[in-house]
Amino acid sequence: MSDSEKAKIILNGKDYECPVIVGTEGERGIDVSKLRSDTGYVTLDEGFGNTAACESSITYINGEKGYLRYRGIPIEDLAENSTFIETAYLIIYGELPTRKQMSNFSQKVLRNANLHEGMMQFFDGGFPFSAHPMAILSALLNSVGCYYPHMVTNQREQDLEHFDDAAALLLSKVRTIAAMAYRMKNGLPMIYPKRDLGYSQNFLHMMFTEPYHEYYPHDDITKALDLILLLHADHEQNCSTSTVRTVASSGANLFASVSAGVCALWGPLHGGANMRVLQMLEQIHKSGDDGSKYVEMAKRGETRLMGFGHRLYKTYDPRAVILRKAAERVLKIIKLKDPLLDIAQRLEEKARSDSYFVDRNLYPNVDFYSGIILKAIGMPIDMFTVMFAIGRMPGWIAHWHEVASNPKGKITRPRQIYQGEPERKYVKMRFREGEIPSDYEADEHKSFGDGSSENASAKA
Ligand SMILES: CC(C)(COP(=O)(O)OP(=O)(O)OC[C@H]1O[C@@H](n2cnc3c(N)ncnc32)[C@H](O)[C@@H]1OP(=O)(O)O)[C@@H](O)C(=O)NCCC(=O)NCCS
Repeated sequence: MSDSEKAKIILNGKDYECPVIVGTEGERGIDVSKLRSDTGYVTLDEGFGNTAACESSITYINGEKGYLRYRGIPIEDLAENSTFIETAYLIIYGELPTRKQMSNFSQKVLRNANLHEGMMQFFDGGFPFSAHPMAILSALLNSVGCYYPHMVTNQREQDLEHFDDAAALLLSKVRTIAAMAYRMKNGLPMIYPKRDLGYSQNFLHMMFTEPYHEYYPHDDITKALDLILLLHADHEQNCSTSTVRTVASSGANLFASVSAGVCALWGPLHGGANMRVLQMLEQIHKSGDDGSKYVEMAKRGETRLMGFGHRLYKTYDPRAVILRKAAERVLKIIKLKDPLLDIAQRLEEKARSDSYFVDRNLYPNVDFYSGIILKAIGMPIDMFTVMFAIGRMPGWIAHWHEVASNPKGKITRPRQIYQGEPERKYVKMRFREGEIPSDYEADEHKSFGDGSSENASAKA
C-alpha cells in the first residue's frame, strides 16, 4: 500500500478517500473494499477490464511492453532453458526446484500417469463417440477426485495437507485422460503411459502409438509440444483462472475447481480460439481463396483474422514470438505440404506488412502459431483446446492454492446494479393475458390450502 497516495471520490459533495495499492512492478490500484460500507455505492465494471480481483504473486503481464513472467522469470528465459514440468513446479511452488525436488516431483507425476481401472469404464460406453473431449476432460477431472476421497474433503486444512500429491496427480492424469478421450472417440485401443518417457513424449506416445506400431516423435516435435504447454502454463486472471479462483473461494476442492476451469476454457473467446484459427484456414481453402480475399474482408470489417490481435498485448505477444520460430522448425522437419499451412504463412506475411494490421497493432497471437504447430504434428482440431487445458493446469493449481491458503480470503460474491422491474404484485394465471380487473385483490393470489398454487398445479 502507498502511504502518500490516496484516491479521492466525491459523492454528493462529500469526499471519501480510498487507499492506493502498489504492486511490486509499480502497478497501482484503488482499493474500494470499504466503499459500499462507507458510502452505499458500488463500482460497476462489466468484464472486469479495470478491476483487480485479487493480489497475486504468480504471473506478471505487461501488455504494452510485451512482458510475461512466471514468478518473476521472463517467459523467453523459461522457453529457452526450462521444460513444462520444471516450469509447472516453478508456478506451483514459487521457486525453481533443486535437483532433488525436481526428481521427486517428476517421479510423483510419473507414478500417477495411469488411471484407476474403474475410470476406464467411462471410455467403454460411458460417453457417446460424438462427445467433445473438453466435456470428457471436465467430467473426468472431477470424477478422478472420487478415487482419492482424502484429497477432496472440501475442508481447507485437509485438502491443503494433501496438496502436493493432488497437484502432481492432476498434472499427470489430465494428460492421460486427454489422450484416452481422443482414442475412445476414434475407436482406437487404449495405449498406456510408459515409465521411461518424459511428459510431452509420453502424451504423444499415448495419442499416436498403435499396438502394432510404436510412435517415435522427432525430438523437435516433442520440444515444440512441450513449449506450447510451457507457454500456456499461466496467464494471470483470465476467464478460466478467475473461474478456478471463484470456485476455490467457496472452499471447493482442487479437482472440482480445475474441472470448472476446463468448462470456462472451452468457449471460443478463450481456449477455443486456436481451433477457430484452423477452421478459418479450412474455410479460406474451401472457398478457393489463397488468403488475399479474406484479408481484404477483414480490412473492410466483414470478418476477423482469427489468431490476430490480443486484448492485453498491444505489441507482439511474447509467446507468439517464441512459437513462430518453433513453428518454422516443425514445418521444416515435417516437410508437410499442407495447403492450410501455406495459407497461414501467406496470411501472416500479408498482415505483418499491411498498414491496416500494423497501425492497429494486430500481431499474430499465440493461438495462431500453436494452431499451426498442432495441425502439423497431426493433432485433431477438437483436441486443440484440450492441449491448452493440459498446459494451463499448473496455473490453475497454483491459483487454487493461493486462494485456499489465504487466511483472509473471502468467498467471491460480486454485487450488481439491478435494472429489472420495481416491486410489483403476483398476477394469477387467469388475469395474465387481459386487463387486470380494477377490483383485483392481492388476496386472490394467496396459495391454496394445500400449499400449492393455481400456477403450480396448472399443467405446463
Ligand atoms: C483478441 C481480440 C478480441 C482483441 O480485441 P480488442 O483488443 O478489444 O480490439 P478491438 O476489438 O477493439 O479492435 C481494434 C481494431 O482492430 C480491428 N481488429 C481487431 N482484431 C482484428 C482481427 N483479428 N482481424 C481484423 N481486424 C481486427 C477491429 O476491427 C478494430 O478496428 P477499428 O479500430 O477500425 O474499429 C481481437 O483482436 C480479436 O477478435 N481477434 C481474433 C480472435 C482471436 O484470435 N482471439 C484469441 C486471442 S488470444
